[in-house]
Amino acid sequence: MLMAKSILVTGGAGYIGSHTVLQLLLGGYRTVIVDNLDNSSEIAVRRVKELAGDLGKNLSFHKLDLRDKRALEKVFASTPFEAVIHFAGLKAVGESVQKPLLYYDNNLVGTITLLEVMAAHGCKKLVFSSSATVYGWPKEVPCTEEFPLSAANPYGRTKLFIEEICRDIYSSDSEWKIILLRYFNPVGAHPSGYIGEDPRGIPNNLMPFVQQVAVGRRPALTVFGTDYSTKDGTGVRDYIHVVDLADGHIAALRKLDAAGIGCEVYNLGTGKGTSVLEMVAAFEKASGKKIPLVMSARRPGDAEIVYASTHKAEKELNWKAKYGIDEMCRDQWNWASKNPYGYEPPKSN
Ligand code: UD1
Repeated sequence: MLMAKSILVTGGAGYIGSHTVLQLLLGGYRTVIVDNLDNSSEIAVRRVKELAGDLGKNLSFHKLDLRDKRALEKVFASTPFEAVIHFAGLKAVGESVQKPLLYYDNNLVGTITLLEVMAAHGCKKLVFSSSATVYGWPKEVPCTEEFPLSAANPYGRTKLFIEEICRDIYSSDSEWKIILLRYFNPVGAHPSGYIGEDPRGIPNNLMPFVQQVAVGRRPALTVFGTDYSTKDGTGVRDYIHVVDLADGHIAALRKLDAAGIGCEVYNLGTGKGTSVLEMVAAFEKASGKKIPLVMSARRPGDAEIVYASTHKAEKELNWKAKYGIDEMCRDQWNWASKNPYGYEPPKSN
């Protein structure tokens, strides 16, 4: 019998990671998660295992920080990995401005350690979570993969630097096969409502905030900027269902098997722009909840309109997002209403 391929997923307990791990298991892959649980919960890992049914037996988990090289070595010594999907990293823009060294240490040192250990064990296939943040304030839309890159804050710089590091290691050693995935705005949750996004503290991103207003944890959504040159004055983004995004990783893994892939970059988005007010309206429709709004000034560093060109991923990965914003909001609400406090409800006194 053919042994299933083993994939290492860093940050696999997190929002995008947990959804991707589920798709991997359902696709027949053996999966090992390493995660330091800094902004994630082991309950997510348990739930992914349950959702995968019989295939859940192919999942294992190690609580581990990527900067702990010895611990990481042990994981690689115990399992030969076909490839690594690297999600682990800090991602709050504001925090990165306050604590740049924390971001450089965690994201850059963590990644460099991972790449060193991979090379030492002859595992040279990588899928990396990059972000549309590397397009900065794009001069035009849709953003194609060839656009000039820039970063407006330390978080964004870590994504940009890691992309450059990947290009450099491929130039130095053509055995590496690397796919950099630039995510647009992942939202929604698995349709079961069993796993979803559960950020610690005050959410930075739109939909986790909207969701917390809907369940009564926060009084109102602050709309950052109503004077953009957009259809209704609010910022426009390319929201993508997290399950579509997860499937994009399976497509990338398949692509890594192709000859001569080198170091390639793909956008994962839908190619459609949606404003803040349109997103709120879609969520209100899906949830039947009114989201009170406070109109406010622009958030520093925010771009006006960002959405993806999806041609390259469609053509070369044979992948295309299936879901629209109604499904994203339906599944976001399903998760929120079943888990109003995320994975770990507050203890009553
Ligand atoms: C943000 C980050 C980006 C990061 C991405 C994923 C900034 C400047 N950019 O992108 O670097 O890669 O998250 O983590 O933080 N909005 C509100 N009220 C809110 C929150 C957001 O009106 O409380 C608006 C924003 O102004 C924007 C849209 O909603 O127009 C989406 O915001 P958000 O979800 O934070 O994503 P990005 O800004 O695209």
